[in-house]
Amino acid sequence: MKQSPTTLFLAGILSVLALSCGGGESESTPESSSQPAEANEALETNQAAQAPAAPEVSAEAAKAAAEKFVLCAACHGEDGNSLRDYIPNLASQNAAYLFTQFEKFANDQRENYVMSKIAPSLTTDERIAIAVYFADKPVLSRAQGVMPDAKGKKVYDSLCYACHGTAGHGDQQYPRIAGQPYVFLEKTLLSFKNNDPQRRNSPMTGVIQNLTEEDLRAVASWVSNLP
Ligand code: HEC
Ligand code: HEC
Repeated sequence: MKQSPTTLFLAGILSVLALSCGGGESESTPESSSQPAEANEALETNQAAQAPAAPEVSAEAAKAAAEKFVLCAACHGEDGNSLRDYIPNLASQNAAYLFTQFEKFANDQRENYVMSKIAPSLTTDERIAIAVYFADKPVLSRAQGVMPDAKGKKVYDSLCYACHGTAGHGDQQYPRIAGQPYVFLEKTLLSFKNNDPQRRNSPMTGVIQNLTEEDLRAVASWVSNLP
């Protein structure tokens, strides 16, 4: 499946972590009664014994992250398909985008009553585990309550495709927008246009400045119905 971009992203983040956190808590207490004699040599040369740990999400981090998924499920759905129309899907969202949004909520570049509290409580390992977990889930089709407006397609094909891709799936740099709930898209686009503090300092504000609210609703209807 689409494992590779996510895996690459993970590998990148983890190697950074391995470098910056390497030699952190040296949890491997030497239960070394069974160590043969040649191990002593390595132990003598104290420093050399501190080989960096293999880059992988530790069992504890994975477990802690699993506890956090339960928190997210009430709003974003167990599989990342949102349970409410004003809440975005996390399913199939690009892992890098999910990861950077935690940073934004945590440092007030983006505001939401709940998310601004949750984001700072997540450790880096949990953020990675959560981003990777949801990025690999499929988006299920949902009843959007609006028909795709042909005018929205025109707007999409003349402007949005350049960054979000022809199918709206984005990439490691741009978020996936296809299949997001219409209500979330409409609200978000209006926030960008009005430079709402909830989505402040976004490149999107400049991009859509010349579109009317009617254009934005049309393009939201189109995007929400993309698979
Ligand atoms: C009480 C409901 C609620 C809970 C619980 C919740 N969220 Fe959210 N989340 C939201 C809402 C609402 C938004 C949209 C905010 C906005 O409009 O900008 C959001 C936005 C996000 C975004 C940005 C997505 C995007 O496409 O812009 C991410 C990432 C996210 N949440 C992750 C999580 C994770 C991970 C958890 C669990 C640890 C979680 N959320 C728990 C309500 C919730
Ligand atoms: C120049 C590149 C660019 C173009 C063109 C562009 N976008 Fe974006 N868009 C971005 C970036 C970057 C983000 C993420 C940054 C942010 O959230 O502030 C984003 C975020 C979004 C989001 C929020 C996604 C989420 O889940 O939080 C929506 C919705 C969106 N764009 C819709 C559109 C639509 C519709 C168009 C066409 C009218 C469009 N974009 C054109 C770059 C672009």
